[in-house]
Amino acid sequence: MKKQTYIWLVSLIPLLSSCSSETEKESKPINSIQLEHSILSLTKEATKLHVPWDLQYDRINDAILFSEIGGSIRRLDTKTKKVTLVDSLTDVYHQRTLGLLGMALYQPEKQQAYLYLSYTSKKDSLIFSNLYRYEYSPEGKLAHPKLLLQIPGNTGHNGSRVIVSTDQKVYWATGDAASDTFAQDSTSLNGKILRLNLDGSIPKDNPIANSYVYAWGFRNMQGLTHDEKGLIYTSEHGDAIEDEINLIQPLKNYGWPQIEGMIDTEKEKAIAKKSPRQEPIKSWTPVVAPSGMAYYGFGVIPEWQHSLLLATLKNQSLRILKLSADGQQIVDEKVLFKDQLGRLRSVLTLPNGDIYFCSSNRDWNPQKGFPKPDDDVIYRLRIADKATAPIIRPLAAASAKQVKSGQALYEAYCASCHKTDGKGLTNTFPPLANSSLVQGNPKDLLKVILQGLKDKKIGTIKYESAMPSFSFLKDEEIIEISNYIRSHFGNSASKINQQHLTSLR
Ligand code: HEC
Repeated sequence: MKKQTYIWLVSLIPLLSSCSSETEKESKPINSIQLEHSILSLTKEATKLHVPWDLQYDRINDAILFSEIGGSIRRLDTKTKKVTLVDSLTDVYHQRTLGLLGMALYQPEKQQAYLYLSYTSKKDSLIFSNLYRYEYSPEGKLAHPKLLLQIPGNTGHNGSRVIVSTDQKVYWATGDAASDTFAQDSTSLNGKILRLNLDGSIPKDNPIANSYVYAWGFRNMQGLTHDEKGLIYTSEHGDAIEDEINLIQPLKNYGWPQIEGMIDTEKEKAIAKKSPRQEPIKSWTPVVAPSGMAYYGFGVIPEWQHSLLLATLKNQSLRILKLSADGQQIVDEKVLFKDQLGRLRSVLTLPNGDIYFCSSNRDWNPQKGFPKPDDDVIYRLRIADKATAPIIRPLAAASAKQVKSGQALYEAYCASCHKTDGKGLTNTFPPLANSSLVQGNPKDLLKVILQGLKDKKIGTIKYESAMPSFSFLKDEEIIEISNYIRSHFGNSASKINQQHLTSLR
């Protein structure tokens, strides 16, 4: 009898140890990040994903729930690193920037948990943005979908993110659906922050009676988060200039499309004088293409406590935007991972102080050198005792004030679409290499840069999106860029000078 017990125990030992290595699987750090005092380690938690768009924390299952733009919802177990499929939505319309986008997991102590989903759908030729609510079971299964709102969509500018804030209300950041009028029309639900009860009804204390509209005047918001007091922040794509971070207040008008970024031109000042417009708390020109954003409120990483963590697509970085004590201003900006991991889409903070974020290198607009075989990736940043991998440090954000070289200007303003090598993106952005317009009459080229271009057939291709106007650039900058594109990518043409430009302004 005694012997039998002994054998039983021995045979159990390998089982137990393999079990514990299953539950506590640790990935090898790629980098150590040296902050002022703290050290963080960066690890890959999940790889080979397809454009993860939003990350949420399921505290009951200690797992990261993530959406992928094509319509699947999957779960990453933070301990075993196993990724499992939760559900595949069949009515998602995925095209370029359209598809399954933002999510919010609402998991209260006692009541029913819900998963809110924002995604694009298409019926006949019409595109819609939808806000759905699913019941989320303790085991993490989805059931009983309920369509809370359906609003017009378009081939671009569909936003969107969704959160449940500290007041137990749902906030949905909607895109302007590329309309010139929706954002300023308070009866349209596009280009707005909408506020809903958990069941989708209109809250009695909304600022406009019987309306979902909470704040308006937005273009295409890509990030939405709140701090522990319920202050709400958004990140938003500007057109060619003025990407923004906004602090959302009820009934305020954030100005789009009449006002871009700060109220700083004569025209914008005149509009704001007639009726008040709210300025962003931060704007970027050149643009960084801000995306998902998460509030970091923990003392675990003291240097980052009370900051907004922002993922960016174009600048391919994670930005740490330090907030003032009252949360009304951004007082410092640091940049991590610039161009190292590719496009970054979404970021999430966990109650234990861990940070998860994901790349977006398999989306419609990959940058040079990406995607890598492991893309897309969910990464984790965690406090560490010591550096165990190559050390990197956050950089101060570069000031954009001084006039730069043609190449630097091209990288800052043009390369996100026409690419560093000038080859563009097939059927989406035309090549500047070998372009007869680029190498032709200086005035024709300068006109395109000053005024932008829309609905023009180049060769045999009609491009769906438009080229924005760059008239905000200084004369010297436009001349620098023009001469750069006329003498690179295999192009060769005469130099453009101030005289060519003067008559066009
Ligand atoms: C947001 C994306 C985007 C950015 C940024 C952008 N462009 Fe374009 N560009 C386009 C698109 C789209 C077209 C084609 C528009 C059409 O056909 O109607 C275009 C067309 C052009 C053309 C015409 C090409 C031809 O062969 O006829 C030139 C020249 C050009 N862009 C130069 C620039 C320069 C210089 C910059 C930077 C200052 C720039 N673009 C920034 C999207 C962009």
